[in-house]
Amino acid sequence: MADQAIWQTEGTSKRAAVQGMFAEIAPTYDLLNSVMSLRLHHRWRSFAVQKLNLKPGDGALDVCCGTGDFMAPLQKAVGENGFVAGIDFCLPMLQKAVGKPGTGSISPRLGLGDACQLPIQANALQGVSVGWGIRNVPDIDRAHQELFRVLKPGGRFVSLDMARPRNAAMRKVSEFVFNTLVPWMGSLFGKTKAYTYLPKSTQKFWTREQLAASMKSAGFAEVGFKDLFFGNICIHWGRKP
Ligand SMILES: C[S@@+](CC[C@H](N)C(=O)[O-])C[C@H]1O[C@@H](n2cnc3c(N)ncnc32)[C@H](O)[C@@H]1O
Repeated sequence: MADQAIWQTEGTSKRAAVQGMFAEIAPTYDLLNSVMSLRLHHRWRSFAVQKLNLKPGDGALDVCCGTGDFMAPLQKAVGENGFVAGIDFCLPMLQKAVGKPGTGSISPRLGLGDACQLPIQANALQGVSVGWGIRNVPDIDRAHQELFRVLKPGGRFVSLDMARPRNAAMRKVSEFVFNTLVPWMGSLFGKTKAYTYLPKSTQKFWTREQLAASMKSAGFAEVGFKDLFFGNICIHWGRKP
């Protein structure tokens, strides 16, 4: 099992493999993220935060927060009197989030925790976001249940993640780019394996409809989704009744 590829792992093996992989790529994560998304990820995050419909003074949590790029738009939405926290299970990624500019005078609270077992009481928050995290958790249904649990009634959840374009021609272009260029970019930093995980895990990832069904089973209402970036990214949202 020692040589098993990260994208083939499941359950607790996946948890450990993903945690180790993000620890390895934490130093170059932000740079490669900006290059690969053509810096559009900031725009997608702002759109996702709009979907949370947050008000000044609200409490918001970013799960799988990584290097903390959701913190600034969340803090902007809840204002100086609001509360923003980020949770991730990989310390080197969280360390990159500490002291990031753009969060204003307030420092978001950052903590270690697992998306499938959040260290947060039930009915605590008005908004929960996840960016490119759901694909990585070992139990997606369980994660959706946890995200639902920590929201107050009326609170909203939003998730951005990779998707496979529905259009066949676009899917071919994407597969070429993600299967060749992305691992090549990773190889420049000696991280070919970690950057092969991105296209492989996207191919293995649940469809838009499967994710929406899982959210509905967890209890979410008003579940919807929308493609971005020619269908390479999909945003899902839902509300706790
Ligand atoms: C692709 S990165 C995304 C980081 C950040 N959300 C962003 O938008 O840039 C995925 C993050 O999810 C975290 N992660 C994966 N599985 C997790 C889990 N089960 N619990 C908590 N964090 C997890 C990883 O450590 C990593 O920081």
